[in-house]
Amino acid sequence: MPSPLALPDLTGRTILVTGANAGIGYWCADILATQGARVLLGCRSAERAQVAVSSIRAQVPGADLDIVPVDLGSLVSVASATASLDERLDAVICNAGVKAADRSARTADGLDLMVGTNAIGHFALVAQLDRLLADDARVVAVGSLAHRFAEIDPGTLSQPWTGASLRQYGRSKAALMALAFELNRRWRGTARSALCAHPGYAVDPLTPHRDGLAAVSPLTRALASVSRPLVQGKDAGAAPILHAAVAADATGGDYWGPGGLLEFRGAPKRVAASAQVRSVDVGAELWSVAEHLSGVRFTI
Ligand SMILES: NC(=O)c1ccc[n+]([C@@H]2O[C@H](COP(=O)([O-])OP(=O)(O)OC[C@H]3O[C@@H](n4cnc5c(N)ncnc54)[C@H](OP(=O)(O)O)[C@@H]3O)[C@@H](O)[C@H]2O)c1
Repeated sequence: MPSPLALPDLTGRTILVTGANAGIGYWCADILATQGARVLLGCRSAERAQVAVSSIRAQVPGADLDIVPVDLGSLVSVASATASLDERLDAVICNAGVKAADRSARTADGLDLMVGTNAIGHFALVAQLDRLLADDARVVAVGSLAHRFAEIDPGTLSQPWTGASLRQYGRSKAALMALAFELNRRWRGTARSALCAHPGYAVDPLTPHRDGLAAVSPLTRALASVSRPLVQGKDAGAAPILHAAVAADATGGDYWGPGGLLEFRGAPKRVAASAQVRSVDVGAELWSVAEHLSGVRFTI
């Protein structure tokens, strides 16, 4: 588990983490609460969110937590979640993500499930939270090494995918990252910043046990332990994301990931993103497409 001591004291800061009931999002919430932050857990299942809250409170008695019901795969849900909020946000961690087994799966709004949830849902979320963001707020997009596997074609983003499935997931992550870099460009001249981060290769069997969260048998844990030199737990996967969200040396437009072999594991460091997700032209075109698909205008 990353040392919480590497992060600053976060008393007085409020941070929204999407997908905070499981995996990397859970660990972001847990570690942020350990550091004294007020954490809003953006989750689609009230029951799973409550389990996460109980688990964090078992580690951090008195943790300041609230649940924000939100399904990133439904623009109506995103709109009602943002309308329900009325407090300053110092950071938003866009972590919720889906890697769909069913390649034809759609969001409630008929978008490709991965594009709609991972990229467009978060675009709509942040756009509608704009009024609550602190003057120096940070938005962190949780990307993936897989962003390199796909070409983003903004013009076909709303269309079904017919290529390899890992590229379908990669497309959604590349779109999310390109939108974050574009947001950072649009915030130039303000104290707000948008960054990307990725968790490397982070798996449940190498993650510390928490009651009610991903159940892993002792045998699976034992077998997985041989992979520890190569990959890491989801607690460690949270480290680059948290670094991007709160560390003093992280700045707008950064991309953070694990510093070890192949960026699969290790302590956070700045890593390289593809030229495409950094492209000014792709970012601008994608922004228009995201506004069109979400029906939300991002006023800056
Ligand atoms: N693990 C890795 O090695 C890895 C590598 C690269 C990038 N990532 C990215 O890191 C993020 C977290 O991954 P993880 O491994 O922690 O995954 P995970 O254990 O499957 O957790 C995903 C989280 O996202 C939530 N989520 C999914 N769809 C949602 C929706 N429509 N609305 C609200 N929440 C939703 C899930 O909620 P439910 O419990 O309700 O499903 C869960 O809380 C993802 O964005 C993923 O793409 C992970």
